[in-house]
Amino acid sequence: MTDPEKKTLRVALLGCGTVGREVVRLIESQSDDLTARVGAELQIAGIAVRRGGRDRGVDPALLTTDAHGLAVRDDIDLVVEVVGGIEPARSWLVDALKAGKSVVSANKALLAEDGATLQEAAAAGGADLYYEAAVAGAIPILRPLRESLHGDRITRITGIVNGTTNYILSSMDSTGAGFNEALDEATELGYAEADPTADVEGFDAAAKAAILASLAFHTRVTAADVHREGITEVTAADVASARAMGCTVKLLCIAERHTDADGGESVSVRVHPAMLPRTHPLASVGDAFNAVFVEADAAGQLMFYGRGAGGAPTASAVLGDLVAVARNRLAGARATPESPYADLRIRPMAEARTRYHISLDVSDKAGVLAEVAAAFARQDVSISTVRQEGRGDDATLVAVTHTATDAALAATVEALRELPIVRNVVSVMRVEGGESK
Ligand code: NDP
Ligand code: HSE
Repeated sequence: MTDPEKKTLRVALLGCGTVGREVVRLIESQSDDLTARVGAELQIAGIAVRRGGRDRGVDPALLTTDAHGLAVRDDIDLVVEVVGGIEPARSWLVDALKAGKSVVSANKALLAEDGATLQEAAAAGGADLYYEAAVAGAIPILRPLRESLHGDRITRITGIVNGTTNYILSSMDSTGAGFNEALDEATELGYAEADPTADVEGFDAAAKAAILASLAFHTRVTAADVHREGITEVTAADVASARAMGCTVKLLCIAERHTDADGGESVSVRVHPAMLPRTHPLASVGDAFNAVFVEADAAGQLMFYGRGAGGAPTASAVLGDLVAVARNRLAGARATPESPYADLRIRPMAEARTRYHISLDVSDKAGVLAEVAAAFARQDVSISTVRQEGRGDDATLVAVTHTATDAALAATVEALRELPIVRNVVSVMRVEGGESK
């Protein structure tokens, strides 16, 4: 039990990398203000790292390589986890929460994989679990979803929630930079995950999508429920094609509420690259910035925008949570945890409806267009526009569909691949932000 008279709250910091270093800097540089805002001093009592014996610009006496021992130590009130990964972070946090220590974490991978276990441990220990930094860096989005919009009914969230991939796609679009060159820059700037595969293959965005969908739809959504495609297949030609259509390519996370045929409701959650009209509010989100576009019945459309990655922006969100859990601790209170009471069905990707941009390498001869159009028609996929680029052996046919299900589109692509006149299905990309579903 915290002593109500205690005027110091002792913080265990797990991790002192890109984000952890900035957490230390903010706690130290804003010490007086934080004390005034919390009503007690926030004192860093220990810092866990993986590799000892390195100068990290912090008091060496605070450093330890025993993260678990630090997290459960009797004198610790609050734990900040900025390490990442599932294990051993999960075990440290479960034990800390069960021991009554409130936790602030930026670990979206863990929260999306097994947030339920952490919530149960928090309930068992009467502790808080806050994780604003886990989604969209500095942007306050989780608190608005779980507090400000709690009286509303959210219907859809469309977000750019991965800074690294947005940096890469924006560079490819604006400067014609190559994929690898832009990824190296994003890594150098501290945006990428320890293993950037998590960024470029969409795992990081999928984890954030699961967290957003869980809060928005009061339903337990895990990373495994999210349809995920990364940006490694996006080519300079796709970016140029998008440009020709007045679009840009973005890695989007889309979480939607649907009404089913039986009148019940379901949710779909997906992450994939998509062409987006340049007039869409998300199209102008460049560099490593993130934005989350929320649609709700009463509030209408809301857009949250800001720095989605990097040490200082992420530390800002961590500090906001730290102040909140510290205040709760002093008040002897605990935030009401989110309830997955709605328990909506998760729709499979096959049922998702959107538009598609399909680029085909075809023989340039009479009747090609008719054969291609017939393949779409057989699956009931309606074509909105079609154009031919090049001639002879270089002919490319580009079709954009009206809204269709993913299943119908997949069957169409399969059929196109079988047509002798189609030499290659060059690319298939979804088109978002246009006609209604
Ligand atoms: P870094 O890789 O820069 O830092 C990770 C830190 O954790 C390092 O200090 C590392 O120690 C320490 N660590 C790793 N394994 C252990 C272990 N077994 N025991 C003790 N310490 C360990 O990561 P970031 O700071 O970039 O990210 C941290 C978390 O924040 C991740 O969950 C990430 O997804 C999340 N996040 C990151 C953002 C960003 O922009 N970077 C934005 C939003 C969230 P050592 O220094 O010795 O290697
Ligand atoms: N690697 C992540 C990104 C960090 O690029 O968005 C922020 O969560």
